[in-house]
Amino acid sequence: MITEAVKKLIRDCVGPENVLESSIDRFGYSYDSSFIPMAKEHIPELVVLPSTTEEVAKVMAIAHQYAIPVTPRGTASGRTGGCIPVAGGLSLALTRMTKVLELDERNMMVTAEAGVRTIDIYHTCAQKGLFFPPDPASWKYSTIGGNIGENAGGMRAVKYGVTSNYVMGLEVVLADGTVLHTGGKAIKNVTGYNLTQLFTGSEGTLGIITKVLLRLIPMPKARNTLQLMFGSLDNACNTIHQMLMSGLVPAAAELMDKISLQAVARHRKLDISPDIEACVVLEIDGDTQADLLKQAERISAIAHSLQVIEVRIAQSAQEVDEIWAIRRGLSSAIGAMAPNRFGEDISVPRDAFPKAVRLIRDIGKKYHLTIAVYGHAGDGNIHPSILCDLSKEGEEEVVHRAVDEIFDAALSVGGTLSGEHGIGLTKRPYIAKALGHPGISTLKAVKQALDPKGILNPGKIWE
Ligand code: LAC
Ligand code: ZN
Repeated sequence: MITEAVKKLIRDCVGPENVLESSIDRFGYSYDSSFIPMAKEHIPELVVLPSTTEEVAKVMAIAHQYAIPVTPRGTASGRTGGCIPVAGGLSLALTRMTKVLELDERNMMVTAEAGVRTIDIYHTCAQKGLFFPPDPASWKYSTIGGNIGENAGGMRAVKYGVTSNYVMGLEVVLADGTVLHTGGKAIKNVTGYNLTQLFTGSEGTLGIITKVLLRLIPMPKARNTLQLMFGSLDNACNTIHQMLMSGLVPAAAELMDKISLQAVARHRKLDISPDIEACVVLEIDGDTQADLLKQAERISAIAHSLQVIEVRIAQSAQEVDEIWAIRRGLSSAIGAMAPNRFGEDISVPRDAFPKAVRLIRDIGKKYHLTIAVYGHAGDGNIHPSILCDLSKEGEEEVVHRAVDEIFDAALSVGGTLSGEHGIGLTKRPYIAKALGHPGISTLKAVKQALDPKGILNPGKIWE
């Protein structure tokens, strides 16, 4: 319990109007975008909304002195419970820190506060012909601080990599309130351990990211979207595979199976032919329209050699937006198909994608569970979504066994538990299997060194 005297200290740091204390306000900070049920144990004691690094530092110094748990968050778009304050204490929301501080065109870098929405980073840079590629499905509302905390991926990872590939430096408030600056604008930098990458993907368990320095690349001059429909999931996977093997790297290569397509059809009131078993959505980019046309022709030829049923090349910006809106809304559309849903995030070597999909389908059959499979096929990151009804006797147990087997399947083909959603709460029981004892003890040593009192996002990553 935080005493009244300590609450007053916190109010004095950020102003009383930036501390939320009513139960209804605090309730709004108790859940995220995962499938974890809401619970009153997840309601923080206080919600604190600082607007500067100095305020974050002062709040952390108090939290450290009184050993108060602190759960940092942006807009709660996370999928694994990362910002759910399971240990009570403070929910520290960075959503008032929304300034893009500098767009350095000469060095092609942008500096921003942690609470800037990812899509706003994209647009600010795009206006100057610069490109920040990471585009998680949630980018319209997720914040850059959260994306870095989770090392978010997204659609364009195939060609451009994930968030961590663009983080050059960070400002981080450490557990005791010390402000640390890592990295910088020098492209080459081997001065000491790579702390920038250590904090990237650390899920708020090592420090509070307050400012970010991101690398940009030139914006591609031309871009288009293709949608391919297949009568076989294998042919859909093989089309992506052959495309990549032939040296044709699209910006994005997404796959949706039949169940995912049924969810889309239901959600958007669309008719999708029953012959269609899989859909591939590609973003291609290049220097000229002629360049795109050539790529589209090569893709079409590969797809036709693999019995594609329909090749649709978007004819307008509106059509492009429609296709991607369907893809970005897929997770919600799938979630609406059943009372409960477990959405996973396994990541496997690219060439193991078809095998992993087959293994997941076998698990679905074995346990009589409907599992929608979609994801970022071009980079091997699959989101199997188990649709279930936990009110049914025994269903929960069966689902847990299926989840176990999905993770085993990922490990068996050389993959891992999470490609872009992190460990958070939902994957804690499995991390030891994925990393092994030396991996776990090394990570724990880092955690112990940076957060000796265990106040930073307690309960996350570690059980
Ligand atoms: C997606 C999110 C769930 O790819 O990662 O839709
Ligand atoms: Zn995803």
